[in-house]
Amino acid sequence: MNIYDIIEKKKNSLELTKEEIDFVVEGYTKNIIPDYQMSALLMAICIRGLNIDETYNLTNAMLHSGDTIDLSKIDGIKVDKHSTGGVGDTTSLVLGPLVAACGVPFAKMSGRGLGHTGGTLDKLESIPGMNINLSIDEFIKNTNGIKMAITGQTGDVTPADKKIYALRDTTATVNNPSLISSSIMSKKIAVGADALILDVKVGSGAFMKDVESAEELSKMMVELGHKFGRRTVALITNMDEPLGFAVGNSLEVIEAIDTLKGEGPEDLTELCLVLGSKLLVLGKIASSEKEARELLEEKIKNKEALNKFKEFVKLQGGDTSYVDDTSKFKLSSIKEEVYSLEEGYVQKIDALGIGEASKDLGAGRETKDSILDLGAGIILNKKIDDFVKKGDLLATIYTEKESEIEKVKKMIQNSYIIGEKNEEPYKLIIEEID
Ligand code: URA
Ligand code: CA
Repeated sequence: MNIYDIIEKKKNSLELTKEEIDFVVEGYTKNIIPDYQMSALLMAICIRGLNIDETYNLTNAMLHSGDTIDLSKIDGIKVDKHSTGGVGDTTSLVLGPLVAACGVPFAKMSGRGLGHTGGTLDKLESIPGMNINLSIDEFIKNTNGIKMAITGQTGDVTPADKKIYALRDTTATVNNPSLISSSIMSKKIAVGADALILDVKVGSGAFMKDVESAEELSKMMVELGHKFGRRTVALITNMDEPLGFAVGNSLEVIEAIDTLKGEGPEDLTELCLVLGSKLLVLGKIASSEKEARELLEEKIKNKEALNKFKEFVKLQGGDTSYVDDTSKFKLSSIKEEVYSLEEGYVQKIDALGIGEASKDLGAGRETKDSILDLGAGIILNKKIDDFVKKGDLLATIYTEKESEIEKVKKMIQNSYIIGEKNEEPYKLIIEEID
């Protein structure tokens, strides 16, 4: 077998065998196949596509390129949630304690933010003392104890994906449904939860810019999940505006805590209740989504979800007084207001533009090594369908970077698309695939 022939085959739209795919993944991971040949193959895959069998074989090869984590020592049906990357999306920090308070073990390995999207680990680090590098034993022990743990990746999980993803990032080969599905699902299967809910974002701030491609991606990931014996459900959700009002690390943790107190934004609350209801059914705690939702609402009202979050923070070394009093979070020292230059209804808020603006304020990473300002970010004051007059407050920004302020104000003003009232009401949850 040789890589040249495999590239030639895919160039001619032929199906690759399991042996060929194993050969490529192993060869590339072990530095036997060079970047230039792997790049050529990835480009051929982007143009010609992979069918579901090839995608399954690719997922399987990446899954077995490194450690897999056995969560069988955790009692009950373990659940996990994955979002394909949004702006202002602090769902995990609300969803985790909500379902854990209902008795569903929430075992999640999260990532850091890159580019315009945020990451759960960075957000958690804005709580002083928080340890986000649990060992596998601690991860299992905590999930058994309080039904919830969130950590960075432990062990050497899917090294093939790490290497291939880095190459795709620099060769314009990220945006293919088979490559995205196999990348996400290999990691999720390696980490071992029994049931998985996928939040597939669609819109300007997301990988998938239209509903059709989001559907294709969702179907593929759900089918892969099933082939690996994991209950998997995907929701396609809207990113035509950022989720909630807060974008930025400390700001989003405060927003998550407010939501657990029952005082959060409507869209974030709704998404958490819908995702949570599905997890409760998948986890066999409730027999219907209606019953599940009532249970979740009760956990917010009686503060059990909030207390679960405190328990989680405490167990992972964080200072719980920040949860009791969110005014303790240290925000960046410069606070500036951004005003509307137009009058009309907000039709859309370009999530990519807001994500980039927040990154430039210091809340996000330019490269893997950038140092974050956890107190930086944006609080939106207007959302889709709100009416604004010239000079009305659109958003408040927090930063330490004086030199960025004027540019970022323009970025935010440009991200707000203002005009006639939208004919259709904004639909947060577009479709369910299971
Ligand atoms: N997230 C991943 O982990 N992989 C992709 O390919 C795209 C998004
Ligand atoms: Ca938010």
